[in-house]
Amino acid sequence: MEPTTNLPAPMEINETLERLRAEAPGRIAAVTSVGDLDDLAADLTGKRSPIAAGRRALGTVPAEERRELGRAINDVAVEIDSLLEARRTTLEAAEATEALAADRVDVTLPGRVPARGTTHVIQQVMDEIVDIFVAMGYTAATGPEAETEFYNFTALNFGAAHPSRFESDTFYLDYGDDPEGVLLRTHTSPMQARYMEDHDPPVYLVVPGRVFRRDQFDPTHSPVFHQIEGLAVDRDITFGDLKGALEHFAHEFLGPETRVKFIPHYFPFTEPSAEMHVFDNGRWMELLGCGMVNPAVFDAVGYDPNEVTGFAFGMGADRLAMVRHGITDLRHLFDPDRRILEQYR
Ligand code: PHE
Repeated sequence: MEPTTNLPAPMEINETLERLRAEAPGRIAAVTSVGDLDDLAADLTGKRSPIAAGRRALGTVPAEERRELGRAINDVAVEIDSLLEARRTTLEAAEATEALAADRVDVTLPGRVPARGTTHVIQQVMDEIVDIFVAMGYTAATGPEAETEFYNFTALNFGAAHPSRFESDTFYLDYGDDPEGVLLRTHTSPMQARYMEDHDPPVYLVVPGRVFRRDQFDPTHSPVFHQIEGLAVDRDITFGDLKGALEHFAHEFLGPETRVKFIPHYFPFTEPSAEMHVFDNGRWMELLGCGMVNPAVFDAVGYDPNEVTGFAFGMGADRLAMVRHGITDLRHLFDPDRRILEQYR
């Protein structure tokens, strides 16, 4: 037999039922999640609820009141249960909808396009120039950026005291045991000598590459820049062949109407030497250096100057990239900010 002392009396039970009947609908309606509703249900009708306490007390109630009180408790319990059930149905449906929305994959959204790299504009221009010469039957090759003083200067007929050899103009490297010295090549011309040493004529060669000079970084100079070298050696090559090949190049690269002119110049490794200028955007612009291969260079590489003649040329790829894209400051080409280079695709 349960202790009777802390069980509510019929009066109290009736008051509690009244209060529950009044409060329960509001409390149930205010709950916004299934979890909170479970807690409230335990409060209202669970083991420790006033309803359960009332049922337990029934045994102590006089028999004549028991029946009516029992029914009252049951009525309230049934009422509350049905409110709880209705609210549960609503909340479960809302939570399911919400979960679905959170999970939803919208297959109609456009895909996320990954950032895609391209070659640098200088590389694009070098590739294009090499392609123009390859289409004329030239072979492409590359050479070392760290070069010996012999190939960079001596084999190309630069005198021992030529100013280009000065440390003020050229980066020398403390490297290796070459008797003359090792440097960062100042032009791509050393590949003329290297290639002729390794190959018999005829030679039709283009050499794209990076070159170095001790220049200030300013709108028109950079201590590192890019050249494309060309060399053609065969029987009976003439200055007319040089002009024809380079004019064809200008027409391919800048357009078929492009005018060119050749102005006398001097290079130790070509004789005669010239600059080719092109008329572009309303003005004459120097495009490249060129000339007939100096017999002294043939001697240095073991070719017989009585057997072969040839021409050579060298052009700056950075300058051509600037012309191509209307860039006025060379330094933009070396800016690592992708947003700058992306303008010139
Ligand atoms: N190497 C020369 C320069 O850097 C260009 C050149 C190449 C000139 C080949 C004549 C022949 O200025």
